[in-house]
Amino acid sequence: MKINHGDCLDVLRTLEDNSVDSIVTDPPYGLSFMGKKWDYDVPSTDVWRECLRVLKPGGHALIACGTRTQHRMAVNIEDAGFEIRDVVTWLYGSGFPKSLDVSKAIDKAAGAEREVVGFDASKARPNKEGFAKVTSAIETSSNAGHKDNGATITATEAAKKWQGWGTALKPACEFWTLARKPLGEKTVAANVLKHGTGGINVDGCRVSYSENENIDFNKVQDGNIYGGNGIYGEATQKQTTPLFKTNGRFPANLILDEEAARLLDEQTDSDCSRFFYVAKASKSERNAGCEGMPLKVSGGMSGTLDGTLKTGSGNDRNNLNQNCHPTVKPIKLMRYLCKLITPPNGIVLDPFMGSGSTGVAATQEHFDFIGIEREAEYVAIAEARISRAV
Ligand SMILES: C[S@@+](CC[C@H](N)C(=O)[O-])C[C@H]1O[C@@H](n2cnc3c(N)ncnc32)[C@H](O)[C@@H]1O
Repeated sequence: MKINHGDCLDVLRTLEDNSVDSIVTDPPYGLSFMGKKWDYDVPSTDVWRECLRVLKPGGHALIACGTRTQHRMAVNIEDAGFEIRDVVTWLYGSGFPKSLDVSKAIDKAAGAEREVVGFDASKARPNKEGFAKVTSAIETSSNAGHKDNGATITATEAAKKWQGWGTALKPACEFWTLARKPLGEKTVAANVLKHGTGGINVDGCRVSYSENENIDFNKVQDGNIYGGNGIYGEATQKQTTPLFKTNGRFPANLILDEEAARLLDEQTDSDCSRFFYVAKASKSERNAGCEGMPLKVSGGMSGTLDGTLKTGSGNDRNNLNQNCHPTVKPIKLMRYLCKLITPPNGIVLDPFMGSGSTGVAATQEHFDFIGIEREAEYVAIAEARISRAV
């Protein structure tokens, strides 16, 4: 395991060609023009070109991004020479809308004081559907949860007209671009044999059947179950080879948190247990290993110039953590992603390591790990977390 403190472009240049087996990383999404200085743009093709060079031929990369800048991220990765193989979507029900309240903004711009009518919406939490109640001109929903969001009544006619209008949707997913360095050999088989890279670990990442699934293994129902001979895991009706039960469903390009799965289960007749579940990182998980470090306010990315799309709760003095990184990923997700694309005993590289979630995950999956992080504060946190995981 090697943790590097520095700019990833500089550190990557010191690594040998074809020396890592996979790249799993959560780089800056380029959202926070006024917030964290590291999050002002998606990484350039120069960075991805260096990643390509150090990755073994046929090696895979999984690279996170948000919905607003995924297009820029994927283009840079592709322009650097990677093949885009897929995009894995992580769907979650626990996101919180961070929308500018247009009506309030109009009143504020007019210098009009809004009457507070007693209900402190800053304490309002979204209900199971993610909505708070909306009552006529009394505002309780459009940015419920914001500190300054006491329930107020519109002050001006113009504000009344725009009551209920906002600027952003509730975030419910993020993307992981699955990219591959072009093969070094003529075929995947030859590449895997020579370099150990080129494939993804389907069986290692199968999603177990749920206990209440009643599967008739004597019928061709689903290639995911039988390891059928159709493309993308789908069995064909013409299948004549003997059927066999695999240890779970074929890993999909969709991952759900429990809330998203529950909502989908309720709204459709589908069985969402066929997808992998990951909840967001808990407080205890993010801080594990950092005991003794000072408590700091987490989050605090200011979002865009108009103040919307904040990604953390930077002003919230209650949100104190030893690991104060604003964008900590869940270990379960990172373990799954590392396992999906890293051959046994392989080296996982994370050039944008942050507080080290990839390193913890790689270590727990018994992979070797190389991490790079520019901020000294996060390097210390990552070292503490990964040491605990060893
Ligand atoms: C989205 S965060 C990663 C968070 C990580 N997934 C975690 O769980 O803690 C991206 C990180 O990349 C770092 N970073 C940004 N630009 C960098 C660069 N050029 N070289 C190295 N690190 C950089 C930032 O300091 C930040 O910690």
